[in-house]
Amino acid sequence: MDQKKYWKVFFDIYDDLPRGGPGNEASLRKALDLMPELPPEPEVLDVGCGPGMQTKALARIIGGRITAVDNHPYYLDRLRKECAQEGLADRVTVKAGDMANLEFPPERFDLLWSEAAIYNMGFSRGLQAWKQFLKPGGYLVVSEAVWLKDNPPPDVRTFWEEYPALTTIQANLETIRACGYDLIGHFTLSEAAWWDHFYTPLVERLDVLRARYQGDAEAMEVIEQSQRETEIYKKYSDYFGYEFFICRK
Ligand SMILES: C[S@@+](CC[C@H](N)C(=O)[O-])C[C@H]1O[C@@H](n2cnc3c(N)ncnc32)[C@H](O)[C@@H]1O
Repeated sequence: MDQKKYWKVFFDIYDDLPRGGPGNEASLRKALDLMPELPPEPEVLDVGCGPGMQTKALARIIGGRITAVDNHPYYLDRLRKECAQEGLADRVTVKAGDMANLEFPPERFDLLWSEAAIYNMGFSRGLQAWKQFLKPGGYLVVSEAVWLKDNPPPDVRTFWEEYPALTTIQANLETIRACGYDLIGHFTLSEAAWWDHFYTPLVERLDVLRARYQGDAEAMEVIEQSQRETEIYKKYSDYFGYEFFICRK
């Protein structure tokens, strides 16, 4: 299948989901509770914001000014519209940008937030590249997929071969230290954080698209690949998960 068609079907699946990855407000609040020294009106950067459910939650909960960056124009338009509808537009700036080449003045932000997105450039590379934008003592909150248990069964190991950098919580903690951050805390996302705003709406969307793409074997393969992802998680959520890491410069 040509790339153009692959991405058309891919974005048909993901563009209008509530989130682009696992996460929820409970985990966001739990991370914020670990940062009592965050200033009252912080400057925040949300990297790989996607549809921006967490961007809007941050704007509502902590106030301050949020800059949300992503490289997918559809998400940026959608987030701009939703911020306007929800009265958040004066405090949320939505910006096109490449997370690997962010253009901000050094030490601009009190908090850099990135849920389920740092994998696009690699955990260590992201931590190193983004540090310059944090004020001294500024916080970095990232979520990243991790192995939760040794010896995963072949099914799940094969599934994750497409992200060979997947590693353990411990290895990520070592990377955080090696990149010169202090670790404030970390926790594993609940299963609800995968299902409520991500996999449950995803599975519903796949049903709609199966009807739309009936008879198109290439499109069906993209659809079934996403279905398999949800099934692997349902079956093997003991073995892998998403970890929130709260760090300080
Ligand atoms: C799995 S989604 C997570 C989105 C959102 N943070 C969430 O949790 O719902 C990953 C996001 O990273 C964005 N992305 C991928 N590569 C990027 C890049 N090089 N620069 C900026 N954003 C990128 C994608 O467009 C997508 O919105």
